[in-house]
Amino acid sequence: MKLSNAFSFLQDLWLGITIAFLPTLKSILRNPMLLLSPSKISQLYMTNVWLVFGDGVDGNAKDAKDTLISPYASGVVLDIGAGHGHTVRYLDRARVSRYIALEPNALMHPHIRAQADDAGFHEADGTLIILSCGAEDTKAILSTLALASPTENNSQPSAAPVDTIVSILTLCTVPDPERTVANMVRDVLKPGGQFLMYEHVLSARSDVAWWQRFWAPLWSVGFDGCRMDRASDVLMRNLKLKDEDGKNVGAWREMRLWRKEGEDEENLFFHSIGRFIRI
Ligand SMILES: C[S@@+](CC[C@H](N)C(=O)[O-])C[C@H]1O[C@@H](n2cnc3c(N)ncnc32)[C@H](O)[C@@H]1O
Repeated sequence: MKLSNAFSFLQDLWLGITIAFLPTLKSILRNPMLLLSPSKISQLYMTNVWLVFGDGVDGNAKDAKDTLISPYASGVVLDIGAGHGHTVRYLDRARVSRYIALEPNALMHPHIRAQADDAGFHEADGTLIILSCGAEDTKAILSTLALASPTENNSQPSAAPVDTIVSILTLCTVPDPERTVANMVRDVLKPGGQFLMYEHVLSARSDVAWWQRFWAPLWSVGFDGCRMDRASDVLMRNLKLKDEDGKNVGAWREMRLWRKEGEDEENLFFHSIGRFIRI
């Protein structure tokens, strides 16, 4: 691997730090109590980073999203790690009945609201729901959705309520990803529902993977826990669910994984795109 490729991400890291540092510092000076909560500072910093990088990252992924989200997302769509709500730009309003944006960083919620409103999804009529929990908190996801769509006798939360889960550059950040994804697919995604992902992943090339593992701890400090060495594509491909007899069975009835067109194999943020249909 060329050394220039191995070090190229430092430019992004530095840019992120320089861009987000001052506004984050200003907020801390205005509210010094933030110093007691490092996770809030990290969220504030990430919000400032995404204000600058979000549109560019979205533009860079547009072709992939046009082939992944626009033609397939339908019904009730759950966008995990919604960020500033860029996914909603790709939803076909005629085929998507409700957009659920799960984003634990509440500072990003106003941006989600604005983008969703522009795309025709509104909290007032229930076509937009913003969840503040993490993707790992399936109980909170299910109970909020049950409240939003009460059953006739208001007793049991409805069975898995989501038709499409979308994950754009988020599986790199969720804690315990295998368990988180398995729980979401088992409990939140309807049988026959689909999971659409666009993620940067651990390279299959050992030299590139070595550098990804080397830089991952540094990058994750600068970018809210994002791991550049996570093999989300492998995790998704091999995902298992327990069947009625407690046996592990493959989670997918159908799956397709593909690469981003024209992407350099030596890119430390090498992307994988996937569409998975649940059993
Ligand atoms: C790189 S951003 C991607 C945002 C958005 N999907 C996009 O494409 O613009 C990752 C997002 O995941 C969110 N996130 C962090 N921890 C999470 C968790 N446990 N569950 C779900 N999302 C999480 C972050 O707050 C951040 O907004």
